[in-house]
Amino acid sequence: MKTIIYLASSANGLISNSRNVPDWLSPEYGQGFMDISQRTQAVIMGKTTYNILAPDYLPLKEGGSLVVLTHDTQTLPAQSNILFTDDSPKEIIEQLTAKGHTEAVIIGGTETISAFVKAGLVNEIIFVMEPVLFGSGLPLLKDIESEYQLSLLEVNKLNDNTVQLHYSIEYN
Ligand SMILES: NC(=O)c1ccc[n+]([C@@H]2O[C@H](COP(=O)([O-])OP(=O)(O)OC[C@H]3O[C@@H](n4cnc5c(N)ncnc54)[C@H](OP(=O)(O)O)[C@@H]3O)[C@@H](O)[C@H]2O)c1
Repeated sequence: MKTIIYLASSANGLISNSRNVPDWLSPEYGQGFMDISQRTQAVIMGKTTYNILAPDYLPLKEGGSLVVLTHDTQTLPAQSNILFTDDSPKEIIEQLTAKGHTEAVIIGGTETISAFVKAGLVNEIIFVMEPVLFGSGLPLLKDIESEYQLSLLEVNKLNDNTVQLHYSIEYN
């Protein structure tokens, strides 16, 4: 199983601004988000991110697996392909593998990404770096002391101002 983070970031590495309004995201980020979700058919997100996307902007309308981390596993999801779970990142990856998935994409936010990185379960990271600097906002990771080395796999210029950086992550 290959696990990939796909995320937009400001040029100074923040994944949301203090207004928490996603008006800084390019159409190319949105297209990439849909493309990688369609390709993997397995999308992992935290409940806060789910609440922002649902119901209209969820990347898989039917089929595949939309896994949402939450402690509230009793609420019924809006679609049959959504799983609300409080299982560990390791258990989630094992379950997706058992369902036949060979790739999964984690689309945010900070808490969810941090849990999977901390568990050593992320193979690749795709940053869509948007042309903006935020004075404050959410970092990519929180509550992690470790440092991780990245190897650059690919750089793509998506439009006049937006760059996509694709890395693999090395765990020692
Ligand atoms: N730039 C980008 O590409 C991008 C993409 C996505 C999101 N974002 C931004 O990220 C922000 C949201 O990030 P976030 O860190 O606040 O939230 P998040 O990771 O989306 O969701 C956090 C929630 O997920 C649940 N959760 C997380 N870890 C869990 C675990 N181990 N077990 C059970 N439940 C768990 C909890 O939900 P419960 O409280 O229900 O238990 C927690 O409150 C938003 O501002 C959004 O705009 C940015």
